[in-house]
Amino acid sequence: QAYNERESLYIALGYAKDFFVKNLETEEGKAIGLSYFKERGLRPETIQKFDLGYALDKWDSLLQAAKQSGHSEEILLKAGLVLQKEGEPERIYDRFRGRVTFTIHNLGGKPIGFGARILTNDKKQPKYINSPETEVYHKSDVLYGIFQAKKSIREKDNCYLVEGYTDVLSLHQAGIENVVASSGTSLTENQIKLIKRFTDNITVLYDGDAAGIKASLRGIDMILEGGLSVKAVVFPNGEDPDSYARKVGPSAFSEYLRTKAQDFIAFQIGLYKEEIAEDPIKRAELVRHVIGSLSKIPDPINRTVFVSQSAKLLEIEEAVIQTEVNKILLKGE
Ligand code: GTP
Ligand code: MN
Ligand code: MN
Ligand code: MN
Ligand code: MN
Repeated sequence: QAYNERESLYIALGYAKDFFVKNLETEEGKAIGLSYFKERGLRPETIQKFDLGYALDKWDSLLQAAKQSGHSEEILLKAGLVLQKEGEPERIYDRFRGRVTFTIHNLGGKPIGFGARILTNDKKQPKYINSPETEVYHKSDVLYGIFQAKKSIREKDNCYLVEGYTDVLSLHQAGIENVVASSGTSLTENQIKLIKRFTDNITVLYDGDAAGIKASLRGIDMILEGGLSVKAVVFPNGEDPDSYARKVGPSAFSEYLRTKAQDFIAFQIGLYKEEIAEDPIKRAELVRHVIGSLSKIPDPINRTVFVSQSAKLLEIEEAVIQTEVNKILLKGE
């Protein structure tokens, strides 16, 4: 049977997914991969639902097995599963080795790529290695967990947005299935459009550290620009949704999300609240941030409602804020 290249890539990626999943049943996979997942509190049904796996600590285990099954080196290279080094002799070997694997599915549930985590604290190696861009995997168009989340996003009419693979998994285990991860990259317009197919509401749950807060601010503006409404939850310093969910347990975690979700104005004010009490310069900076976000809201009615709310919360005259927002809007035209 003749397949076109895209089909061959999907078949090879599906083969790799099965291979990594089955590796969890080998001696090495049980001792290293499965025990790692267990230590992180991941349950068998989660491992199964998300096609978690293990890449053996060998140069070419996937390459050899896949070739035996009829996959060509060319397709394995194009799928991002193996790497080729120039030189004498030319070497071709597995991209993912000695790591646990997170299968990245497209909206229809087909494997299109992988993330792979090291199991040690070796700071010389990257913590995660991800599939490269391929014909079927465009990282800026993909959200980790969308296949497993889409039904729940529609039902709840809200989507939780987290940074990492393990945040998605922990939330599912806490009974929260309307969650996707941007996987460490900054949020893109296409990712927001993908969510918009299922809901107009996003709640950002980024890590409770400086990087997470910075990413939240940027993400919030992107989401507003996409015409969606956005809330954000701040986690205690050093906690991410995964660590915090495991620390406090499912019911306290759900309660935390329910009570701590703030709209973008309150979120920005919260970030500044200690500084603005004494420092008028910081207060002005906050006002400018809020005005910047307000100017991103495309719908004039929504914008007006939020301008009015900002005025109250910031204790600034509504007309002043409206004038500044209008200036930015005029500049953009
Ligand atoms: P754990 O340490 O396993 O709990 O991972 P985490 O998801 O909490 O990691 P972190 O908050 O540091 O990063 C969030 C996401 O960014 C990860 O889930 C990855 O998708 C991505 N990421 C983190 N580290 C790396 C890296 O070294 N390389 C690449 N390419 N991506 C990374
Ligand atoms: Mn394409
Ligand atoms: Mn982080
Ligand atoms: Mn984490
Ligand atoms: Mn994290």
